[in-house]
Amino acid sequence: MNVILGVTGCIGAYKAAIVLRLLQKNEIAVYPVMTHSATKFLGPLTLEKLSGNPVVSDLFGSESSEIQHIALARRSGLLLVAPATANILAKFASGIADDFLSTIYLSTTTPVMVAPAMNVEMWHHPATRENLEKLRRRGVFVVEPGVGYQACGEEGEGRLAEPDEIVRQVLRVLSRSGSLGGKRVLVTAGPTVEDIDPVRYVSNRSSGKMGYALAAEAVRRGANVCLISGPVRLAPPAGAELVLVRSAAEMARAVFERFGDTDIVVQAAAVADYRPVDRMEQKRKKSGERWSLELEATQDILKELGTRKSRQFLVGFAAESERLVENAREKLRDKSLDLIVANDISIPGSGIEADENQVTLIDRDGELVDVPRLPKIEVARKIWDNIEHHLFS
Ligand code: CTP
Repeated sequence: MNVILGVTGCIGAYKAAIVLRLLQKNEIAVYPVMTHSATKFLGPLTLEKLSGNPVVSDLFGSESSEIQHIALARRSGLLLVAPATANILAKFASGIADDFLSTIYLSTTTPVMVAPAMNVEMWHHPATRENLEKLRRRGVFVVEPGVGYQACGEEGEGRLAEPDEIVRQVLRVLSRSGSLGGKRVLVTAGPTVEDIDPVRYVSNRSSGKMGYALAAEAVRRGANVCLISGPVRLAPPAGAELVLVRSAAEMARAVFERFGDTDIVVQAAAVADYRPVDRMEQKRKKSGERWSLELEATQDILKELGTRKSRQFLVGFAAESERLVENAREKLRDKSLDLIVANDISIPGSGIEADENQVTLIDRDGELVDVPRLPKIEVARKIWDNIEHHLFS
């Protein structure tokens, strides 16, 4: 296994040598790339001698090693940048490729992990926050920095994470030859929001927690995950591509666009069944009179997928307040699903917006598996175990 180790210029650069050593101890070959400013903090010779590989730092170097590095970037298991300065995060976020490391970032399709290190003010600056948010949304893994004394004399967040923590996270990502390795998974989550006017909308109660837990667990099992989410207040799960949508129509578009390349779809979103017939451009003034709102049906995304599916494994949810199994079975048939997760929404403290869930899994043969009330991440594991059972045994 190969890792490209990008090193950028800050006082924590010396720790890159420790990270390199720890990676080697885990039988990972390291190919170092340094930015020009990194070479002011740490001699390239150190990384060259430790890794046994040439260190590339110049975009216009004289040797052919740059070409080799690009070829390598395509074959390597991970591009790790440790330490990653605010500057390199900004370049990655906006696609600037003016040095060798940022060029590799743009030319690689392998997973990317960054371990930020910077002064506490830079860490909290909205520019850095936005850049990290963008990178996370693209599926970049972020090794959170630690809190402590900084070289500038201040105390606070922004210190490079400890090398063993960085390496632990690298190993986790590299072991993505997990049970879902090579599978493309699409998960939808959260509600959709159907606007009435600029301040009012029709929506469903949904926190997105179940869908986010399903996406996180699929990443952990090695899948290539795309999470399409309606508006929620949750942090994006590391390692998944996050696509944010608002309305059912937007969600439908995002799902259909990706469906052809997908192996498994888990439609956990609470898609609005109805939307206002007219969306008002201006805020409707109150008049004290009654107001009837005319609604029209949205497209049933899952049902449409059921008609389009070829090899895809389709998983739906059924939120029911009565006749749980019968209604869920009907939905499974009606939408041509492979598995349905039936959710009894009448149980207090379970299901919608709660941290726990209690579900029944029903497959095409009518087989039932009851999952007792558990935290949503545990329920996500049971659901994935069940999907894997159907796919692989
Ligand atoms: N679903 C969908 N598109 C819609 C409505 C629902 O893809 N417009 C999906 C949901 O994400 C879920 C499944 O269909 O995976 C079942 O959703 P649910 O709300 O339980 O049932 P509905 O089909 O909407 O039927 P009803 O509201 O009558 O129970």
